[in-house]
Amino acid sequence: MSSRNVIDLSGKHVLVTGGASGLGADMSRLFACLGAKLLIADIDGQGARGYAESLGGGAQAVECDISDEDSVTGLTTAAREFGGIDALINNAALIDVARDLDLLSTDLSVWDRTLGVNLRGTMLVSRAILPLMIEKGAGAVVTLVSRQGIAPPLSGKRLSYGTSKAGLIMLARHMAVAYGKLGIRSNAVAPGTIQTARMLAELSPARLEQSKANVLTPYLGTPTDVSSIVAFLISDAARYITGQTLQVDGGVLTGLHE
Ligand SMILES: NC(=O)c1ccc[n+]([C@@H]2O[C@H](COP(=O)([O-])OP(=O)(O)OC[C@H]3O[C@@H](n4cnc5c(N)ncnc54)[C@H](O)[C@@H]3O)[C@@H](O)[C@H]2O)c1
Repeated sequence: MSSRNVIDLSGKHVLVTGGASGLGADMSRLFACLGAKLLIADIDGQGARGYAESLGGGAQAVECDISDEDSVTGLTTAAREFGGIDALINNAALIDVARDLDLLSTDLSVWDRTLGVNLRGTMLVSRAILPLMIEKGAGAVVTLVSRQGIAPPLSGKRLSYGTSKAGLIMLARHMAVAYGKLGIRSNAVAPGTIQTARMLAELSPARLEQSKANVLTPYLGTPTDVSSIVAFLISDAARYITGQTLQVDGGVLTGLHE
């Protein structure tokens, strides 16, 4: 087996947005274990610094609000000083669970904030970091989207979140198409319900049971189920995979509920 077939991130400089908690933190930990050097960017600067310190291995942190242009300029400077970026994980996002409802009921401020962070913010970071990868002649981008960017929940809620994630699927494809010949691969990963600390706190036991019943697997996904797929996608083992949206959701969208 050639080493290209093994997930090895040795020497790769990886930037994870929203890496201070949740899936971003889990990914950062796994990437560090696989040999990557981490730059963690989060609006929670203190959390990011504490987490980077706990990872060791030269992991660094930068406070950044991805929806703010000046803040993203600061991130770009930090990324240059870090030695450039080989892989960008567009992970930071928000969801306003209580107020992100249907088209006729959602307050415009919720729409603006959700699209501003998730879609515009991710576009700003991608636009700032891609040139650093193009300079190196290689790079991988993974954008965390959601099954809700593919199929809206039957409840009719989460208009803003779902629309932002649908837009991100197109942003990920755009980067694959526009910069593929310059050595950039870009893929999206669409998780279903994943048992992060936030999800476990937010969802009632009954709702969790329902989620478990809806997937095709005997279990609900954990953060590592997502992290391992993202690690694979940014590794050289995935060098022929680009422009894809990979659903990591226990097959929840494959079967119809009768
Ligand atoms: N957890 C799930 O079940 C699930 C399912 C589908 C998709 N996702 C997607 O996976 C990604 C991670 O989800 P999570 O559950 O770990 O989220 P989370 O809310 O637990 O963590 C998000 C992180 O992003 C940071 N962040 C928020 N706004 C930011 C901003 N403006 N600038 C910089 N950082 C900011 C937060 O401080 C936090 O550290 C998101 O893109 C989310 O939409 C998660």
